[in-house]
Amino acid sequence: MKIRWTMISLLLAWPLFAQQSAGKRPLSDQDVKVGKAVYMRECAACHGEKGDGQGPAAAFLEIKPRDFTKKYFKIRTTDSGQPPTTADLLKTVEHGIPGTAMPSFSFLTPDERRQTIAYVLTLADIFDDPEPAPIAAPGKAPKKSNETIAKGKEIYEKLGCVACHGSAGKGDGPSSANLTDNEGNPIKVRDFTGGQFRGGSDPVDLYYRFVTGMDGSPMPAFAETVQGNDRWALIDYVMSLKVPQPKVEYPKDPIEAGRMVTAKYNCRGCHVLDDGQGGVTGPDLRVSGKKLGIDWVKTFLKDPRAYGKIYPWREARMPRFNFDKQEIEVLAAYVVAMGKRTDPIAKKPDPSKFTAEELESGKTFFVLRCTECHNLGKTIEIPEAKRQGPDLARVAGRVDYDFAIDWIMNPQKIDPKTKMTVPGVTPEQAAAVRNFVWKTSMETK
Ligand code: HEC
Ligand code: HEC
Ligand code: HEC
Ligand code: HEC
Repeated sequence: MKIRWTMISLLLAWPLFAQQSAGKRPLSDQDVKVGKAVYMRECAACHGEKGDGQGPAAAFLEIKPRDFTKKYFKIRTTDSGQPPTTADLLKTVEHGIPGTAMPSFSFLTPDERRQTIAYVLTLADIFDDPEPAPIAAPGKAPKKSNETIAKGKEIYEKLGCVACHGSAGKGDGPSSANLTDNEGNPIKVRDFTGGQFRGGSDPVDLYYRFVTGMDGSPMPAFAETVQGNDRWALIDYVMSLKVPQPKVEYPKDPIEAGRMVTAKYNCRGCHVLDDGQGGVTGPDLRVSGKKLGIDWVKTFLKDPRAYGKIYPWREARMPRFNFDKQEIEVLAAYVVAMGKRTDPIAKKPDPSKFTAEELESGKTFFVLRCTECHNLGKTIEIPEAKRQGPDLARVAGRVDYDFAIDWIMNPQKIDPKTKMTVPGVTPEQAAAVRNFVWKTSMETK
């Protein structure tokens, strides 16, 4: 009974699906409107405010963020030269593009992802074009066997994949040198031995990649030249070229080890790193290393979105990466090593030692000099629009207690680019306001 109902409802829904692919994209003008704000927060650091691929991170990335105004897309289920389907774009944003700086945005809500792609399509000026139709569905792959792999190898050689991808699939074929993409950026042929693919590693993902090609790159479309089960045989062969990857060994030196992990995730695009080079979308991590506690950094890296906004004046937010446990350890040690503190723990005071008098003068000073920019939880609230600096009710455990004195006395000395200015603070005033803030913060938690 149940089965029959499913079949009937599928039949009823079918004309709707068919109509949709001929008609407008399933996105609204409202999506575009809201999408702009989400795009500015999550995507503009790389793709630029205008979508031209010129965001502040771009200069520091080897594989350049896409210029949407050029209108070419690599990850599609549509014919070569066609725009991607709405589902293709949603998948790209949800999964990210492995092997490039683009992280998975699975931590956004499905609505937010839909809104960002509505805005991307607007930037590419193809939002109003009809929803493109995907190529005929690949159907089910036949069972993989030694025979299908051998057959695939034959096709791989016959079709000339070997010219670019090389006989062992290392991306080192005779035609692989000096290739460029449509914009003249150098491009590497994919190395199949790593088993990592930009558009997903399922056989069906690979099917779409070589059948429809990767527009804008030298990777051609093979829709005409290979048909039927030969397509699946080719995939079986390509996947068989994967070799086990050696386990990464990190050097002992925390800076050296940190450089390896930050290179893997392209942190430099958004952050200045230990050598003073990097983008300005996020804070200079040399400054962060001077103030942050190592435990806070670990918790933050595991889920940056759980913490909420840190620096209200920065429009962009930190993406969530899927680090493994060891990578978190390495990154946290790297951040604090840059700060050169002797103790990586954020020190906390014993508030019972503070006098009522000092706390009272600290509070008065806070109201006079800090409320121009800082909120202090529910204890001293300022309007959202005025909040430029972090909410100081959250400093305990995050910011080192000793660091705070030097910072309040002379923030520019620690970070010449900081937006914080409180000139003419005496050491007594700094100590009093700090102690008031830390006591309040420790009671807030
Ligand atoms: C840290 C940098 C970075 C951020 C942030 C980023 N991207 Fe990307 N994105 C890239 C890079 C690099 C590429 C090009 C990859 C390639 O050519 O293989 C890319 C490519 C794309 C593509 C093209 C896919 C295709 O089929 O060719 C789309 C669409 C896209 N990004 C959407 C987004 C959206 C939407 C956001 C925000 C939710 C975003 N990106 C955030 C770096 C980024
Ligand atoms: C003219 C050179 C060239 C030829 C010929 C070629 N490729 Fe590629 N291929 C590339 C380049 C370059 C890339 C990387 C594209 C990019 O990063 O945007 C690529 C990427 C790929 C990918 C990776 C997709 C992903 O999601 O990362 C697959 C799979 C692939 N090629 C399969 C094939 C197969 C199968 C053939 C033969 C039928 C073939 N290629 C022939 C140049 C070539
Ligand atoms: C697309 C840009 C982007 C990328 C890529 C990025 N970050 Fe961030 N990061 C930010 C932004 C923006 C903030 C500030 C967030 C806020 O204000 O809420 C931040 C904050 C941080 C902080 C907290 C610093 C402080 O002073 O509170 C740390 C630590 C950090 N990032 C580490 C990393 C590491 C490690 C990587 C690479 C694995 C990385 N980030 C990649 C944008 C980025
Ligand atoms: C003109 C605005 C402004 C004023 C006034 C100001 N701050 Fe700040 N403060 C900031 C900003 C902005 C930051 C974050 C660093 C940055 O982005 O440059 C910050 C950071 C801090 C931090 C580190 C917090 C963290 O979580 O990283 C502390 C502690 C701090 N301020 C204390 C104070 C105290 C105490 C006062 C009053 C005596 C004060 N600030 C006055 C703008 C201000």
